[in-house]
Amino acid sequence: MENDKPKDDVYSMLSESGYADKAIEYFQNRNNLGIIENADHCTDLTGPCGDTMKVTMNVKGDRIEDVKIQVMGCPGAVASGSAAVALAKGRTLDEAESLTLDELYGELEKMPDQKVHCARLAIKTLQKAVIQYREQHLSRAANEH
Ligand code: FES
Repeated sequence: MENDKPKDDVYSMLSESGYADKAIEYFQNRNNLGIIENADHCTDLTGPCGDTMKVTMNVKGDRIEDVKIQVMGCPGAVASGSAAVALAKGRTLDEAESLTLDELYGELEKMPDQKVHCARLAIKTLQKAVIQYREQHLSRAANEH
């Protein structure tokens, strides 16, 4: 964590509303955000609040080689989604599916209490992506026999 970075307005607003530096860093980390072109798999999920997350990922064997998330939602959703895919990258499908809210929150360090559901949506979107990938991959493999 670099403490000598200039603190911009967005940083100040998020910091004052209860986001840890780590969560703000994830919010601003463009490496995790967006869409992978020609990805092996794409899944989206809309939460009860109306916000939507879209996961694209490339999988080799049972390992997630690359994964990104596009978030149409609040800063909590963006930070959570970004941290969730950072944690999932390089893991097996099973490991990514079993990522917990506690683990994600541990990574983000701190967000406002009312943002727990945003982190939950990130976890659910990732889990849905893994489950759908398995279903589609397995059914394709089964059809080839
Ligand atoms: Fe909808 Fe944060 S308010 S995910």
